[in-house]
Amino acid sequence: MKNHLLRPLFLVISFVALVLVARYFAVPDDFGINGRNFTYGYYRLSSIEDWRQFPVAYQGREYCIECHGEEAGAITSSVHRVIQCENCHGPARKHPDDPERLQIDRSRSLCQRCHSALPYPSSQRAELPGIDPSGHNPEAVCVDCHNPHNPVL
Ligand code: HEC
Ligand code: HEC
Ligand code: HEC
Ligand code: HEC
Repeated sequence: MKNHLLRPLFLVISFVALVLVARYFAVPDDFGINGRNFTYGYYRLSSIEDWRQFPVAYQGREYCIECHGEEAGAITSSVHRVIQCENCHGPARKHPDDPERLQIDRSRSLCQRCHSALPYPSSQRAELPGIDPSGHNPEAVCVDCHNPHNPVL
């Protein structure tokens, strides 16, 4: 064969070899050894354990009741019963160990996220009781008048 044919051939062969070598080093030993999974196809066996160890950020309301029964009691009998504590206080993670306390946001923007009136009925968000933030007592924070855990006056 002529040189000008051999050169590209060598190029292709070395590229394939390179891919095979890279694959040998890059693919983990336990990839695909457990056959196919219906959802994920071939997968890395140890990823199951990795995800089991993945730190949970949100714990849910049940988790808070033991230590904050008063707040939990107030909110579960109020119109805010559908809102999770962590929606306003942020993810609990391993609280009270880490972080020791959760954030308390007293700003108007915390409430406006859900209660700024939306004039267009494009989503269920527009059905939440809304106020006009620039007209509804703009000089004060909402929680001066509304208890966030039981907001109806
Ligand atoms: C094992 C008990 C325990 C659990 C469970 C717990 N907390 Fe706490 N929380 C504490 C302690 C202790 C503090 C700090 C003590 C203090 O000054 O009130 C605290 C502080 C807080 C604070 C700050 C209070 C302040 O006055 O600064 C908030 C907000 C809070 N927790 C929310 C939550 C929420 C929401 C959950 C559920 C996702 C939760 N906590 C679960 C024990 C707990
Ligand atoms: C709608 C947002 C919202 C939700 C939902 C909410 N909180 Fe609060 N929480 C606040 C705000 C705002 C404050 C500060 C109130 C203030 O300073 O007047 C607060 C204060 C607190 C405090 C400090 C002590 C106190 O009563 O002032 C604790 C503890 C607390 N919340 C726990 C909880 C727990 C537990 C839940 C769920 C059962 C929860 N919160 C749900 C907004 C919320
Ligand atoms: C995650 C969304 C969300 C946040 C944040 C939130 N709310 Fe609400 N709020 C609701 C829902 C849902 C209701 C119940 C609506 C219903 O009953 O149809 C409600 C009801 C209310 C009501 C009663 C209105 C009525 O006419 O019945 C008041 C007042 C209120 N919230 C004030 C506040 C204040 C003050 C804050 C901030 C501390 C706040 N909300 C934060 C979702 C939210
Ligand atoms: C100075 C006290 C005060 C402050 C501050 C305040 N409100 Fe109110 N709010 C009231 C009173 C009183 C009512 C009931 C009478 C009315 O509808 O105006 C009310 C009613 C509401 C309603 C029910 C409206 C409806 O049409 O059913 C919502 C929602 C609400 N407030 C949310 C908020 C939010 C969110 C903030 C902060 C951005 C806030 N409020 C700040 C006093 C206050």
